[in-house]
Amino acid sequence: MVKLFLTLAAAARTAVHAFNIAPSARPLSSLGAVGSRGAGRGGVYEDLTGMVGNTPVVKISDKLAPEGVEVYAKCEYFNPLSSVKDRLAVAIIEEAEASGALKPGMTVVEATSGNTGIAVAMVCAQRGYDCVICMAEPFSVERRRLMRMLGAKVIVTPKAGKGTGMVRKAEELCAEHGWFLCHQFENEANWKFHEATTGPELCPEIVNDFKAAGKKLTHWVTGYGTGGTFHGAGKALKDALPDVKIVLAEPEAAGLLASGTPTPRNADGSPAESHPAFAAHPIQGWTPDFIPKVLDDAPMDALMDELFPIPGDAAVATAKALAAKEGLLTGISGGGTMYAALETAKNAPKGSVILAMLPDTGERYLSTPLFADIPADMNDDELSIAKSTPSFQLIPGEEPVLAA
Ligand SMILES: Cc1ncc(COP(=O)(O)O)c(C=O)c1O
Repeated sequence: MVKLFLTLAAAARTAVHAFNIAPSARPLSSLGAVGSRGAGRGGVYEDLTGMVGNTPVVKISDKLAPEGVEVYAKCEYFNPLSSVKDRLAVAIIEEAEASGALKPGMTVVEATSGNTGIAVAMVCAQRGYDCVICMAEPFSVERRRLMRMLGAKVIVTPKAGKGTGMVRKAEELCAEHGWFLCHQFENEANWKFHEATTGPELCPEIVNDFKAAGKKLTHWVTGYGTGGTFHGAGKALKDALPDVKIVLAEPEAAGLLASGTPTPRNADGSPAESHPAFAAHPIQGWTPDFIPKVLDDAPMDALMDELFPIPGDAAVATAKALAAKEGLLTGISGGGTMYAALETAKNAPKGSVILAMLPDTGERYLSTPLFADIPADMNDDELSIAKSTPSFQLIPGEEPVLAA
């Protein structure tokens, strides 16, 4: 019943999208950004949930991609609240409403490193639910402020408690107050959400767009937070394109899968302890201090062709290169995924077509290592440009100059 509803809900959203997308006179491979500019979307949305999904795929130029291989990015930051998690939030809330677990007037709770919280807060704002988000201290402060802007209450949990601490807090609050917990990490229904929504949405989006472009996708690269994207879309992609190679990236500093050590679980599937291979890493949204059940439940042997360790500094450097050389502003996990894609491209057979997921926007990382050496004040180059004409100079230690 739940699955039927999810399928119908996903089909309905797909139908809305299909209706709203303006037909293009040019093949997608040559569509570029201008193919449908000015055509509109062919309709209007009843509410923002219809705007979730159908994110664009864009080619990475030869400034970053090696010769003879095509590398693409799927820009999940085109979702309304700028991350892949918008897909999950809509699915969780709609399923809970349909099953009766979530009723008008209730409070929705989630433990999250940020993007899911922002997405859940967005849907709660649109549907009129109160929203409480538990988030561990180290995650970027702009995420907290965004959730509060969307009307959510953010309960910050201590850094020492790591990801498991914020999950415990959310569970405790729900038990105490009778609130609805989204349970993104382990709820049995979670990967089914992904299988029923992220997969059937993401996978045909990917398959259809490459088909329309006349290209055969050979590699798909993703990281994991809950494992939902990998499990849901990975399964659907392998069904649709059995030859596709799936590369799963995880932080080098937190090689939980690489260690081969499982996460012991409580009866409800939540982690019973912090994973011994976990160490703090800068790739926010990836790899908490436990192997999420959503990831564990994936048929690894069938889905994962390669496990790719990502150094934190390579993820940051690649996110910066994507911004500076391609104009693609993504977060650290997007940088990490693209690093794995570009490294894969170096050794892939000529003619390979590789797609990397960019899960969110770089604007979500202003207070993190991604922007650590991006100053707010003018540097020497900028100061000398400012001084190269006489008027409107703001030079440190000097009187501001207006007219020359
Ligand atoms: C920034 C970022 N990247 C990647 C992911 C991974 O997505 P998933 O939870 O589907 O594995 C997340 C999810 O939390 C995220 O927030």
